[in-house]
Amino acid sequence: MKTAERLERIRPFRVMEILDRAQQLEREGASILHMEVGEPDFPVAEPIRMAGVEALQRGHTRYTSATGLPELRHAIAAYYSRFGVEVNPEQVVITSGASGGLMLLAAALLDPGDHMLVTDPGYPCNQVFAESVGASVIRVPVSARSSFQPEWSDIEAAWRPSVRGVLLASPANPTGTMVPRATLSHLARSLPESAFLIVDEIYQGLTSTQSEYPTALAVSSRPIVLQSFSKYFGMTGWRLGWIVVPDRLVDAVRRLAQNLYICPPTVSQHAALAALSEEALLEHERRGRIIRERIARLAEGLESIGLKVPVRPDGAFYLYVDISSSGLTATEFSRRLLEEFHVAATPGLDFGDHDAERYVRFACTVDLDVIDEVLLRLGRAVERFKAL
Ligand SMILES: Cc1ncc(COP(=O)(O)O)c(C=O)c1O
Repeated sequence: MKTAERLERIRPFRVMEILDRAQQLEREGASILHMEVGEPDFPVAEPIRMAGVEALQRGHTRYTSATGLPELRHAIAAYYSRFGVEVNPEQVVITSGASGGLMLLAAALLDPGDHMLVTDPGYPCNQVFAESVGASVIRVPVSARSSFQPEWSDIEAAWRPSVRGVLLASPANPTGTMVPRATLSHLARSLPESAFLIVDEIYQGLTSTQSEYPTALAVSSRPIVLQSFSKYFGMTGWRLGWIVVPDRLVDAVRRLAQNLYICPPTVSQHAALAALSEEALLEHERRGRIIRERIARLAEGLESIGLKVPVRPDGAFYLYVDISSSGLTATEFSRRLLEEFHVAATPGLDFGDHDAERYVRFACTVDLDVIDEVLLRLGRAVERFKAL
């Protein structure tokens, strides 16, 4: 059987290889500390769980409309009013995770041969969504100097006639940094009228520390916003997200969703209504404060053992750590950290090529006492690596 040529260009997710190896070591009896996977460690909040059970009991198990339950689209529009932003429920399309949103947007906005600008480092799957419709990405290298977000001059320099638009994450994976308000507003004003501007806000609200803006829609009505119930709402396995699209895109996206997967998961949509209740939101705020505390503890501890955190995150639960003082590449650092000290973290190469061997991503998805133990092991690791 001949398989598609695009498969050759899909890189393996190194974090999954690290997870596999960590699990193998665990089976052999090692106590592994996991900071590699970007998944919240909290159980799903009680009101969401109860609403999911009730949806099953009431038999809410059939197809919904392709764009999602009208009451959920309304509830999401109302959620934006908390940030002083008016969103028409018609513009809200429920998707199967942010991943489903990325798939719909790639299919709706890119033709074969087109390009989309993304950052390096950035979320690696974006490239695959573009390639699945015959388009590709151009990676814009970003560094700590600009908080790992592009400046307008970077976008201008990367632009060429085949570029259809820009996809940025704010807060971003793997760095947790936001696109500054001024840059976002400049992009919204200055990109060619025919271009799209997608802002992936899947980590929005997670630590409630976002200094720049609560959502890109508070800065401009131009961005297409991509969101998810996975992170802030802690519903990774329920596979639910949403996009906010301009009126003229709603119908195209609806037709694509109808054809590609019929509708987002029904039980999850009923549960998600409870995720937007006051009770659940209070719980998510509480969890945000815990994540904030973890990030501060890890960042301070890392600095005290000589590992630099060049930019503190604005949101998300990631720290992108400069490990160059250890004398190792990030790939070797992560490998040895796992093999010799049983700490799992993700090497920069998972997120691109630019300066990737200098950085390792740590996800603060573990309790403070685990973070303290990670810091002890890291201290010993750095001593050993430097001694060589
Ligand atoms: C930046 C970013 N966008 C999108 C996704 C996809 O998330 P999901 O499909 O679970 O909503 C992820 C997952 O980690 C991510 O980090």
